[in-house]
Amino acid sequence: MRTVVAITGASGSTFGVELLRRLPGETFAVLSRWGQHVVREETGLGREQVAEIATRLFYDSDLSAPLASGSNPWDAMVVLPCTTSTIGKIASGIADSLVTRAAAVTLKEGRRLVVCPRETPLSAVTLRQMADLARDGVTVMPVSPGWYAGPATLQDLVDDFVGRVLQVLGIEVPGGWRAEELNGAARPLPEERVPE
Ligand SMILES: Cc1cc2nc3c(=O)[nH]c(=O)nc-3n(C[C@H](O)[C@H](O)[C@H](O)COP(=O)(O)O)c2cc1C
Repeated sequence: MRTVVAITGASGSTFGVELLRRLPGETFAVLSRWGQHVVREETGLGREQVAEIATRLFYDSDLSAPLASGSNPWDAMVVLPCTTSTIGKIASGIADSLVTRAAAVTLKEGRRLVVCPRETPLSAVTLRQMADLARDGVTVMPVSPGWYAGPATLQDLVDDFVGRVLQVLGIEVPGGWRAEELNGAARPLPEERVPE
């Protein structure tokens, strides 16, 4: 599997770094200029250290990189975290950086595109753009970890959300919420669970 991972300049860059660590196969990473800044602020990692956990790291300014062309095959692209600026550009077909060009290529080639916005509150502009992307077949997954697995640490929350992204990409992740109830033979109907 070959996956493009773009880290843009939204808070939560640790999620993108963790995705790079856990993705199987080849990973092609691109950090936007502000993505690089936020990665350093929030994780302490520099460009060189991110390069060590990806198969290849490309410059966002390099529109002659292989990711700028649909003739180079990759299976999926994830933008994690995704700024509202990058959402707007992808939704309107602007491809003036390697992140936005690779996203445009992923879309035009009918490959899987997952964007993980991180912003709050959201303006009507961004909500409209996210709806447009969803209608165009993009998976829009706001960075929103679940609490139902009983996280004890911040890393648990990061792992939970990154696990959901991996599942969306078709990668098996053990231990879904109450997954054991789907396994094994048919059982008698349990009592209905209603909150008190
Ligand atoms: C420390 C920091 C945190 C930021 N957090 C966010 C954020 O959570 N969401 C967002 O949409 N923009 C955020 N921004 C603003 C973007 O970085 C800015 O709009 C930038 O132009 C986005 O460019 P890019 O999409 O190419 O990375 C942040 C900027 C800084 C410096």
